Amino acid sequence: MAKVIAIDGPSGAGKSSVSRRVGKKLGFLHVDSGALYRIMTWQCLERGVDTENPAAVAAAAREIDIELRPMDGRIAYFVHGEEPGDRIRTPEINAHASQVARVKEVRDKVTAILRSMTDFGDIVVEGRDITSAVFPDTPARFYLTASAEARAMRRQKEEVEKGIANQSAEAVKASLLARDKMDSTRKYAPLVKADGVIEVDSTFLTLEETERAVLAALPQDWKA
Ligand code: DC
Repeated sequence: MAKVIAIDGPSGAGKSSVSRRVGKKLGFLHVDSGALYRIMTWQCLERGVDTENPAAVAAAAREIDIELRPMDGRIAYFVHGEEPGDRIRTPEINAHASQVARVKEVRDKVTAILRSMTDFGDIVVEGRDITSAVFPDTPARFYLTASAEARAMRRQKEEVEKGIANQSAEAVKASLLARDKMDSTRKYAPLVKADGVIEVDSTFLTLEETERAVLAALPQDWKA
């Protein structure tokens, strides 16, 4: 049976960077579940769907086709034969993603896609409901967190470096907190610190230290 490392936490806690590193170290494919919700959001906006309307979002979600391709240590997503890249990382998508992610049909579809990924092999999956709803039975479950200030600073730096946006740290923090709130209070599969997860607070940790904390807590026979 494929092994699954599940990592949840709020925006900007460092889930992607840590998951990528852990995956590379162990030979597990990296799975960014947030990107699937971002693709759903992007496709809704492309189709002119009102993201405040759950029925319209659910109808659009049924039509959205995402192709999975394991490559370069990760599971890549293709839409109409193309990877969306940074088109799903804009402030506009940030502003609508939580609305789309609260719709049950969207969550059911993304959850089924994520569970099918064990067919490709061992995976390290990051998101908001991976430890609580998608893979609650895996023995390697983590809640990665950091202070709101640290998370906003990391996200802002990333946006500027990638040339995605040039927002102030305050604006990034406000958008991030708004998303956290919506993600933690929604009806279906909210972001929670599930029972039995291992919490790692990365506020004062380097990426290497955070990676080490995750690796150290894995089942003994999973370690490379
Ligand atoms: O991690 P991210 O910022 O790329 O996530 C984008 C959005 O998707 C965010 O609003 C939370 C939501 N999400 C979710 O509801 N469940 C997940 N497993 C992953 C992300």
